[in-house]
Amino acid sequence: MSLATLHHSWLGRITSCAGFFALAITAMPAQAKVRPHAPKAPVSLPVGACINLGNHLDMAHGGEIRNNRLTLADFARIKAAGFETVRLPVNWSSHSAPTPPYAIDPAWLARVDQVVDGALGAGLKVILNSHNFNPVNEDPAAAAPWLAAVWQQLGDHYATRPRSLLWFEIENEPNHALTNANLMATFAPALAAIRRHNPDRPVIIGGEHWSGVDSLATLNLPADPQVWPTFHYYDPFDFTHQGASWVSPSPPLGRVFGSESDRERLAHNVAKVRAYSLRTGKIPLLGETGAYESIPGPQRAAYYRAVFQAFRPAGVPICVWAYVNTFPFYDAKQGQWKPGMLGAIGLREPAARH
Ligand code: BGC
Repeated sequence: MSLATLHHSWLGRITSCAGFFALAITAMPAQAKVRPHAPKAPVSLPVGACINLGNHLDMAHGGEIRNNRLTLADFARIKAAGFETVRLPVNWSSHSAPTPPYAIDPAWLARVDQVVDGALGAGLKVILNSHNFNPVNEDPAAAAPWLAAVWQQLGDHYATRPRSLLWFEIENEPNHALTNANLMATFAPALAAIRRHNPDRPVIIGGEHWSGVDSLATLNLPADPQVWPTFHYYDPFDFTHQGASWVSPSPPLGRVFGSESDRERLAHNVAKVRAYSLRTGKIPLLGETGAYESIPGPQRAAYYRAVFQAFRPAGVPICVWAYVNTFPFYDAKQGQWKPGMLGAIGLREPAARH
């Protein structure tokens, strides 16, 4: 599989600890009496355990990856493992016309329907996103009408699916010229297009620099109660992306996770998310986190475990990256969940196979 189409800037995705300050949080006891002016506890989308169907329908310039093509058996397996939600990254810019009326290729939409309805039919919730819509990162103002037209078609097309089960995410990991300064000006037409027929369907929005945790500090979303923040967490990047071919320079193999400074940095980053939640009343979704497949299994599992143990007490819902490709939870060749991975994120490990 070629991931050469994707070029993350390593430095661009490294989070910084600068500006960190600790915030004490007073958790609201469940039975606390509501006082007239008591601040409301921050709330999150009811995501539950969530996994990304990553590197299937999201490739920047092309179609679906043919190996590991998603089928109904995948959704049944994901549901049986204890997941409640799948995040479905989809590339739309390669499958819609670049000029008005920006029509989506009907065959592509029909394939996405199969996946969306297959997952819903298995009892999973679905976060449908736009992924690798690179024109909007390169020239946000010029590409905004195209992105909006795509979302208008998707909003109209999916309007009858239950709003409690199918959620939209306007664009994965804004980067390059798309920053928090022009984010909402760029996304507002897409949001308005969605809202035509989906007045209260949850819509998820992430911030600049590949939606790293530091993007939250200046992420200012509209007052719409069903617009939800998200961020991604691949910190420390030189651990999670060691050996990754699509990162330049590719971090060398051999970096081990779990030092005291790794853990302190994780705690500092959780504090940033708590600060955002207190400021806005909404707890952001951690839409992607993970460690690449070149890393030894026990180290990968240790990383996911640490991220879950750090962010879950802050109420942060988490979608792991990913199901079978590149940061895999499920081993498609062996036909089994990779040992230790489900347990690391609080799900039941399958009984060992004999
Ligand atoms: C990209 C994937 C990549 C992952 C980790 C995602 O947003 O779409 O291709 O593997 O980030 O870098």
